Amino acid sequence: MSLCQQALLLLSCAVLTLCYPQTCYTKVLSMGREITERAAELKRNPDTERCTAHLSDLYIDVHNACIMPRMRRYIALLERLPDWHCMRNRTVQKQSATARQLHHIMAYRCHGELHFSTDDCAALEHKPRAST
Ligand SMILES: *[C@@H]1O[C@H](CO)[C@@H](O)[C@H](O)[C@H]1NC(C)=O
Repeated sequence: MSLCQQALLLLSCAVLTLCYPQTCYTKVLSMGREITERAAELKRNPDTERCTAHLSDLYIDVHNACIMPRMRRYIALLERLPDWHCMRNRTVQKQSATARQLHHIMAYRCHGELHFSTDDCAALEHKPRAST
């Protein structure tokens, strides 16, 4: 095989890996992490903490069936924040958009790829002891 052919092969492999669609599972895992981190950020940051203080902590676990109602409640609360400045904050808007998207993907797109192993609402409000 010539050097050129080898280079081509290598390149097409790289392209394949890059373009190969993420599985539903890896997608929801990473979105879940993003939402969990941003939820903490919204409560910690002085710009938003006063209007998110009433939200309970959120630790997304996509294996927990309670995540679906929990996320609906979280989105509803985020969209009715008492303070106008918070409502208009980009980070807040991004958070509700991502949460909506995750809920939608889990409800309609994952077709059998996701299996809930627990249904424990309280667990979603506490940092997991062993992260998976
Ligand atoms: C929105 O809130 C984030 C933190 O939650 C903060 O870093 C950012 O400055 C805020 N943006 C505006 C426009 O207030």
